[in-house]
Order: sequence, then structure tokens, then C-alpha cells
Amino acid sequence: MNRHILVTGAAGFIGAFLCKRLLAEGNYDKVIGIDSLNDYYDPALKFSRLQQLQDPRFVFVQGDIADAQCVGKIMEEYRPEVIVNLAAQAGIRYSAEHPEVYLHANIIGFFTILEAARKYAVRHLVYASSSSVYGMRNDPPFSVKDRTDHPKSFYAATKAADELMAYAYSQTYGIPMTGCRFFTVYGPMGRPDMAYFKFSEILRRGGTISLYNYGKCQRDFTYIDDIIDAVMRIIASPPAGDESGVPHVLYNVGGGRPVGLEDFTQILCEKLKKYGILSEDLVLEDHIERVPMQKGDVELTCADTRDLEENFGIVPAVMIGEGLDRFACWYASYVRYSSIV
Ligand SMILES: NC(=O)c1ccc[n+]([C@@H]2O[C@H](COP(=O)([O-])OP(=O)(O)OC[C@H]3O[C@@H](n4cnc5c(N)ncnc54)[C@H](O)[C@@H]3O)[C@@H](O)[C@H]2O)c1
Repeated sequence: MNRHILVTGAAGFIGAFLCKRLLAEGNYDKVIGIDSLNDYYDPALKFSRLQQLQDPRFVFVQGDIADAQCVGKIMEEYRPEVIVNLAAQAGIRYSAEHPEVYLHANIIGFFTILEAARKYAVRHLVYASSSSVYGMRNDPPFSVKDRTDHPKSFYAATKAADELMAYAYSQTYGIPMTGCRFFTVYGPMGRPDMAYFKFSEILRRGGTISLYNYGKCQRDFTYIDDIIDAVMRIIASPPAGDESGVPHVLYNVGGGRPVGLEDFTQILCEKLKKYGILSEDLVLEDHIERVPMQKGDVELTCADTRDLEENFGIVPAVMIGEGLDRFACWYASYVRYSSIV
């Protein structure tokens, strides 16, 4: 029998990297990707990610995961044995202005995926959650056993709700499921709404970047390759059952090494200079304003990644300097290309 896998959010940052790795490793005969290609950020970036997935074994469907008919058609035609649900409305700040978009993609969309997993008895459903479920905390590291019932944003609330819905479906119908709480994922072809990308755009145009919480935030940055390594191992290991026999498990997928926003900005600036995006004599301090905390944001994220290490031997390998170097190298070519077209 042919082995198929469905990846939702396939034109997104993590989704595209995952599809690429799945195609490279060749464990599946077909990788089916679905994505709505919405314009939350420039769809051109999504199209260029899809360009990199051109392969006879890759099938792309433009569609909405909240559209049960569309998802049902894919399930009927391809019968994937695994679903990886990465499609979602991401971004904390945007969720304060447009909560309805999050309800649609992250709750109704995820429900549609749960139903598809149930009706077609998939072998494993892997889904994206987020470090944001931990809310405001200053007692690192954050463990999957910790409370997650004080979300600071509606985005975080939808991700925490996904975890509960997944657990209930897993318990009721016995479907093996794994939730991945991703921690600030970064890298080439990343998301333009995230700080490293936004800062690069502002600095190269000579603008001023805002460091929230007066620069005193820390983030557990996780390089995209480390995320994909972990997700690939997770896909291959459907959970057998917890102490109550429910085949649902959660993992923190993070770097486990938080970096302060000030240090992060300094390293980013050095790398942008190295690749000729910023002039060598730019004084970073002249382009920084330190401002109060933003609503919905948290001061610190820090993953306790012992479970991943114990179960899969996975230790995140890419340090922030190396990761930002690779981002800046890609960003230089992206800027050159964007100025031509
Ligand atoms: N990147 C991070 O730092 C990070 C951190 C924590 C959690 N996550 C989660 O990981 C997943 C992937 O994130 P990403 O960074 O790749 O984001 P992304 O925005 O680049 O990718 C998500 C993709 O989903 C698509 N999409 C949105 N709504 C859809 C819908 N209703 N139907 C079909 N497609 C839809 C978008 O077009 C987009 O291409 C998301 O669930 C996100 O919440 C990401």
C-alpha cells in the first residue's frame, strides 16, 4: 500500500521546511500539502517556498482547513496515514485585533482536522501548539506538566484549546496524537511578522526598532532545522498511551537556551553588516527605542526539553549566532531578488 502524509500550512514557514525534508528522506510516496495562501504576510514568500517543493511526489491543494468538504476530498483521494497540522493563524499581537480569524483557522480548522483523523482512522496526528500557552512566567524552564490556563492572548487561548480538543478526541476515539509546543522558530524564509525579520527590514530602511519591555524580554529561539529534526522523529513515533492509556502526548520543541532581546538585536545587526545589508559604520543604538511591554506579550520563554532528549536523543544543535548568520545570508539574497522584481 502507498504511504501518504498530509501537511497543512504547507506554504508556511515550518510547513514548507517539513515538506522539503519529507521529500528528501523519501519515507512517503506522496506528500500532500494544503494551504489557504492567505495574505497575513506577503504571499510571494509562500509561493517561493512552494517553488522549492516542486517534485512529482508533492501534491499541493489551495484550500481552507475549516472547509470540511475540501479536507474530506483530500482524505478520500489520498488516505494519508499521518496528518501534520501546521496551518493556523499565528501571531500574538494580531489576535487582539482579529480574534475571529483565530477562531476560524485554529479552532474550527483544527476541529475539521480532528474529524478527518477520526473518520479516516489515521495512524498519527501531529499538531502545532505554542510556547505561548505558558502565559506570563518567570520560573524557567517551562515543563509540559505546568499549568496552561492563564493565556495572555487569544492566540494562546486557541492553542491551549487545541491541546484540550486533541486530548479529548484521542481519549474518545483512541487516535494517537502528538502536540508540539514550538518556541520562537527562526531561520531563512521565515515569517516577516517576527522580530528578527521585522528588525532586518526596518534597519535596512534606516528606521528605528522598538524593543518592548525596555529590551528586557528573553526568548527561547529555536532554529528551523532543529524544529524539523524533532518533528520528523515525532512523526515516526505515534504515542502508545499515557498512564491512563490515552495515546496523546505533548512536547516542548524549543532550544532550551533563552537569549535576551538586547543581545539578540546586537548579533542580528553584526550579521546584517557581515552580509552587506547594513553599512559597517551603522550605530545600532541610534536605531533603537526602548518601549513598554506590549499587550499579550510575555517577558520570558524557556523550554524544558528533557522529554525530547530522553525519548528521541534530540538536543537542539544550532546556536543563535549560527542561526542568525544563516538567516542574514538568505536575507541578503532575498533583498537583492526583491529589488530586481
Ligand atoms: N514560527 C513560530 O515561531 C511558531 C511558534 C509557535 C507555534 N507556531 C505554530 O506553528 C505552526 C506553523 O507556523 P509558521 O511559523 O510556519 O506560520 P506560517 O504563518 O508561516 O504558516 C501557517 C500557514 O497556514 C496557512 N493557513 C492559515 N490559515 C489557514 C486555513 N484556515 N486553512 C489552510 N491554511 C491556512 C497560512 O497561509 C500559512 O501559510 C502554526 O500553527 C503556528 O501557530 C509557530
